[in-house]
Amino acid sequence: MTDTQTPRRNRILVVDDEKNQRELYQLILQDAGYDVIPAASGQLALGLFEQSDFDVVLTDYNMNGMDGLALLKELVSREPSVIVVMITAFGSVDSVKEALRSGAYDYLEKPVDQETLLRTVSEALAGLRQLDSDIIGNSDAIERVKRMILKVAGSASTVLVRGESGTGKEKVARAVHQASPRAGNVFQAVNCAALNENLLESELFGHEKGSFTGATAQRKGLFETASGGTLFLDEIGDVTPAMQVKLLRALQEREVTRVGGTKPVPVDVRLIAATNRDLEAMVKDGRFREDLYYRLNVIPILIPPLRERRDDILSLVDYFVAKHAAVEGRRFRGVAGDARKLLLEYGWPGNVRQLESAIERAILLAETDRLEAEDLPVEIRQANEPSTSFAFKLPPEGISFEELERSLIIQAMEQSGWNITRSAKLLGLSFRTLQYRLEKFGIRKRGEE
Ligand SMILES: Nc1ncnc2c1ncn2[C@@H]1O[C@H](COP(=O)(O)OP(=O)(O)OP(=O)(O)O)[C@@H](O)[C@H]1O
Ligand SMILES: [Mg+2]
Repeated sequence: MTDTQTPRRNRILVVDDEKNQRELYQLILQDAGYDVIPAASGQLALGLFEQSDFDVVLTDYNMNGMDGLALLKELVSREPSVIVVMITAFGSVDSVKEALRSGAYDYLEKPVDQETLLRTVSEALAGLRQLDSDIIGNSDAIERVKRMILKVAGSASTVLVRGESGTGKEKVARAVHQASPRAGNVFQAVNCAALNENLLESELFGHEKGSFTGATAQRKGLFETASGGTLFLDEIGDVTPAMQVKLLRALQEREVTRVGGTKPVPVDVRLIAATNRDLEAMVKDGRFREDLYYRLNVIPILIPPLRERRDDILSLVDYFVAKHAAVEGRRFRGVAGDARKLLLEYGWPGNVRQLESAIERAILLAETDRLEAEDLPVEIRQANEPSTSFAFKLPPEGISFEELERSLIIQAMEQSGWNITRSAKLLGLSFRTLQYRLEKFGIRKRGEE
């Protein structure tokens, strides 16, 4: 599948209103094997950007009309993951700062020499390709995620990773750490939902000896022990209001106070938080502090669910087959066509995590050196079968017609792995009718409400 494709040449959009400069950059980059598309103004560049994909945008800062900074802001608002290299006048510190703050990936000072230009562009692209071995998939959506990882890695900004359960939030958090200057130091993950408030507080901030029963010795918290590294706060949407206040303080002051302690200790951690909850809704109804939300959401990275990036499924399947076959000390020739089809069409409510465990299990069950459809878990095999396989559980007596309808729809959605097309088939409804009903009843997968 992928092995027969020749890799696409990298495309660079070069923006400069000075013809000589533009042509010079174009020549240098073309000689190095890149596809270069020149634009003589910010406006023209925006038009080109909207029509086509670019790996890197190289733009001059000082231009007539829309300048480089305005262009950068427009590009970032359309596509936050865009990789922009800004060319600034020599010594213009303010422009550089402003560009980086506005989401530029890097900058070059004039006069730009050939070597520096090529190095900057090739480093960005190499960084992306390095992520390929860790973050599997080449859908537009996951490429966007990789570009975001690359862009945020260099800064110390707080990152908020969003996505349904099993989409790879922790994986992305680790990749940010790995690509960052902190990679040589510790990556410390803590699941905020797994600890009660007191334990979480002492875990994160540490405690002094005798501060509570059982505190027999002083202990440093993760904010302190992860110093110089990255602290990953998983399930951040689950922390209590009191903890939210303490986290906000730690983020604002860049210092923590141990439980039972009085003296604040300065901390140097890069914070990455993750959640599968709708934080905006939680802010709206007062369950999550707005000020903390803004502190955390400096750079959002959204990982779409697997069903919305089906182009990644087969690459992930091949990757997990290789991984788990190796664990079992077996060799596989591949995955049978009908099994691939099932995997491609399934709704994957548990996302990549569910896909991995399906493959791991199938490998254990497989009797030959090829994965067959019957090796796959039953929910995946049955998701595609005709409506006769719909096993409907009777709801309690005396419920209203509307509740009955709702219950039927939820059951059909669950049995089809939240695939609307297949649920509609099970229920004998049209796709649009079911979609309308889902909206009307506000039916969403658990974890997405
Ligand atoms: N793009 C990917 N390439 C390779 N492996 C992936 C990818 N995405 C996720 N995985 C793997 O899938 C599993 C689930 O990923 P991870 O734990 O990062 O998800 P999560 O979003 O944090 O899930 P949860 O919400 O359940 O905590 C892990 O084993 C991870 O390595
Ligand atoms: Mg996780």
